[in-house]
Amino acid sequence: DFPEKVTLYEVGARDGLQNEAPLPSQTKVDFINLLSLSGLTHIEAGSFVSAKRVPQMADSLNVMRAISRKEGITYSALTPNIQGFEMALSAQADEVAIFGSASEGFSQHNINCSIDESLKRFEPVMALAQLHNIPVRGYLSCVIDCPYDGPTDANQVMDVARALIDMGCYEVSLGDTIGTGTPIKVARLIETINSHIPHHQIAVHFHNTWGQALPNIYQALSMGIGTIDASVAGLGGCPYAPGASGNVATEDVIYLCQQLGIETGVKLEKIAEAGWLITEALGILPRSNVSLAMKAK
Ligand code: HMG
Ligand code: MG
Repeated sequence: DFPEKVTLYEVGARDGLQNEAPLPSQTKVDFINLLSLSGLTHIEAGSFVSAKRVPQMADSLNVMRAISRKEGITYSALTPNIQGFEMALSAQADEVAIFGSASEGFSQHNINCSIDESLKRFEPVMALAQLHNIPVRGYLSCVIDCPYDGPTDANQVMDVARALIDMGCYEVSLGDTIGTGTPIKVARLIETINSHIPHHQIAVHFHNTWGQALPNIYQALSMGIGTIDASVAGLGGCPYAPGASGNVATEDVIYLCQQLGIETGVKLEKIAEAGWLITEALGILPRSNVSLAMKAK
């Protein structure tokens, strides 16, 4: 059954910008401040990873220190290891995320270790987060297909998802990193995951490379999933997933939810405005049909 309301987890300032041309920190700050006025409750504001690997996120500390925080909003950041977690602490992140992969090839390319090694690396991050009372989200990439290994077995996804939950993640976000998923594949995956992990601990993170993100979200919603990752203006992609394009556009998800009578608590106009601000800074148009249609009206 469809949920009555959903939580939108806005990843535009992280996933959205990690694969675009680098922007001045102040532009990011303005962007996040505008997002903060939209009613969003979860804003991923940066990531503490190798600056050589992802130069676009190298200023995350400055950005997170400079934003105007609004009460009721969780500002989070990616933290692959202790070094990253300590940066997140000094950036006053309200929440952090560890990120692993359901496939070995992507794990090696993205975070430079095997799946097993990654789980070991996450343990000290979890321990430190628990010490500081900081909630940890778990991302799992390549839940449908891997750009290096091909199709991913749903049982493998389940095993790694379970490991993330067992080590203390409050939720696991299922990433279709290269956007090859379709509603039937998503339905099978969620069925499998759901046999071991309850709905409220599952989020979906769909990239729109093959144009299926919205139908996939409709499918996930119909199965009761209540947390949807989305990126303003459809920005995004992972530098280690060649050819992968943006996340589903937040504007499009809000419109879909409105039409389904599902509450998001987020104002479409404000999100669209933030989308125009950031795409103008990047010199591109929003990759959101809803945003473009609103403009044309
Ligand atoms: P590593 O295993 O140490 O090895 O790092 P490395 O060769 O990849 O990097 C080593 C260098 O990174 C060293 O510096 C370290 O000091 C430095 P050097 O000696 O070369 O000058 N380093 C760090 N610097 C800053 N902050 C840190 C940190 N840790 C090490 N925390 C690591 C492993 C994961 C850190 C590295 O491989 C890395 O940064 N990878 C980039 C991963 C990334 O950001 N990917 C994109 C985000 S994930 C994603 O987009 C998917 C998602 O959206 C879901 C989906 O769509 O599927 C979440
Ligand atoms: Mg992603």
